[in-house]
Amino acid sequence: MSDWALITGATTGIGLELARIFARERHNLVLTARNEARLQEVAADLRRANEIETRVVAKDLSTASAPQELFDATSDLTISTLVNNAGLGFYGDFADVPLDRHRLVMQVNMTALVELTYLFLAPMLRRGQGRILNVASMAAFQPGPTINVYYASKAFAFSFTYSLAMEVEDRGITVTALCPGTTHTEFFERGGFGPVRAPLTMSARAVAEAGYRGLMRGKRLVIPGWHNRLAVQFARRMPLSVTSAVVKKLHRKRRVNGSK
Ligand SMILES: NC(=O)c1ccc[n+]([C@@H]2O[C@H](COP(=O)([O-])OP(=O)(O)OC[C@H]3O[C@@H](n4cnc5c(N)ncnc54)[C@H](OP(=O)(O)O)[C@@H]3O)[C@@H](O)[C@H]2O)c1
Repeated sequence: MSDWALITGATTGIGLELARIFARERHNLVLTARNEARLQEVAADLRRANEIETRVVAKDLSTASAPQELFDATSDLTISTLVNNAGLGFYGDFADVPLDRHRLVMQVNMTALVELTYLFLAPMLRRGQGRILNVASMAAFQPGPTINVYYASKAFAFSFTYSLAMEVEDRGITVTALCPGTTHTEFFERGGFGPVRAPLTMSARAVAEAGYRGLMRGKRLVIPGWHNRLAVQFARRMPLSVTSAVVKKLHRKRRVNGSK
């Protein structure tokens, strides 16, 4: 079996669930994130449960050299699917969050995503075959006061992905933007958000299943969950001043409740 998928951020959350689904569907897997011990555990579990091959390449995507190093570490494999899932965000007004944290978000959510796409797309184009799944967010569809740079990074990821999908659609490559709403993962704890009490919060498994299905169908945009699709339609019809004020209020409320 020579079909390989590479998944970033495969240790937890949506990336881990995507890895489980790809393994179930018998794709060989390159798994990457920072935590090598956890990656090795995940890889061993997936190999045991499914007849697949795995390769672990631990990388910190916030370092400038990581995308090229990841590409070089897999240059002997035919990567037919690239999943740019790794991402992070920090709660707080722009001026109150340390600049290093903004840099981290921009590097992982935008720069690494673009560079990995660029590097892995080239051999796909030569073969005339390939799939790319970029995990953006519903945050792509309106500005997000109090999580400013994260929302902006996801608007970037979505716009970049959709444009690329149209550029390469006649060359055998599909590019899909996965835009989940609030999902049960470690994301909020890691980013210093309050506890998540959003109604209709989805499981990482349900989000990953929707992403995998959409990717395989070659869709340009996947928004998992009918309630999220409805919310996006609603947001698109409302003035930005209204939707951004709602986001600000919801996140401030969440933080105040969380800090009690
Ligand atoms: N949860 C939500 O509500 C939600 C909603 C919309 C979109 N999303 C998006 O979904 C994607 C997955 O997030 P999640 O919710 O599953 O979050 P998560 O549970 O926090 O998982 C994030 C993954 O990214 C990896 N990662 C973080 N920083 C990294 C770095 N510097 N270098 C390499 N890998 C790094 C983490 O592994 P290590 O710590 O081992 O590096 C982990 O595997 C993100 O792009 C996120 O923005 C999430």
